[in-house]
Amino acid sequence: MEDQSSQNHQPVSESNSSDKKISAKKIAGFVVALIVVIIMISFFSKAPESDTSQPLELPKNTDGAVDSEEIVLEYTLGDVAEHSTPEDCWFSIEGVVYDVTGYIESGKHGGGDAILVGCGLDATELFNTRPMGNGTPHSEKARSFLPNFDIGNLVQ
Ligand code: HEM
Repeated sequence: MEDQSSQNHQPVSESNSSDKKISAKKIAGFVVALIVVIIMISFFSKAPESDTSQPLELPKNTDGAVDSEEIVLEYTLGDVAEHSTPEDCWFSIEGVVYDVTGYIESGKHGGGDAILVGCGLDATELFNTRPMGNGTPHSEKARSFLPNFDIGNLVQ
């Protein structure tokens, strides 16, 4: 009876030891997996933080900052007068300065060379009355071309 009992105990003891080894491996694997998950969570939770900080976009909305689209160049009549030839023709109309050199070169002006009389001047009256033509203002279509040549505003 005693022998049987001791023989029965031996295998039971080995089986427990093997179970312990397996569960130790499982625990180690679980811990490693847990560490990997924690590292991944910390990595992905940092990404949105850096995205939302976006300090580089702040200057757009900073008070006093000037948007490049809002910059308007200013010229005096003296500046305009320096561009009074067919090859380099500026004039102002109603407070806006135009560089019409390209328009003249294109040969598309409906009134031919009549446009040249305005080069280097405030041509508001010439544009609106066309004294060398039929004496009427330019058409709305002609006026709609002006923004293509706008280079800034006329100042004193
Ligand atoms: C000093 C400036 C200018 C003068 C003196 C002038 C003069 C004239 C004249 C004499 C005519 C022919 C029509 C007529 O005989 O009455 C004409 C037509 C025309 N001009 Fe000018 N022009 C000037 C500037 C411009 C500019 C800057 C544009 C366009 C951006 C322009 C666009 C036209 C057009 C489209 C016509 C055809 C008729 C019409 O649509 O009114 N002109 N211009």
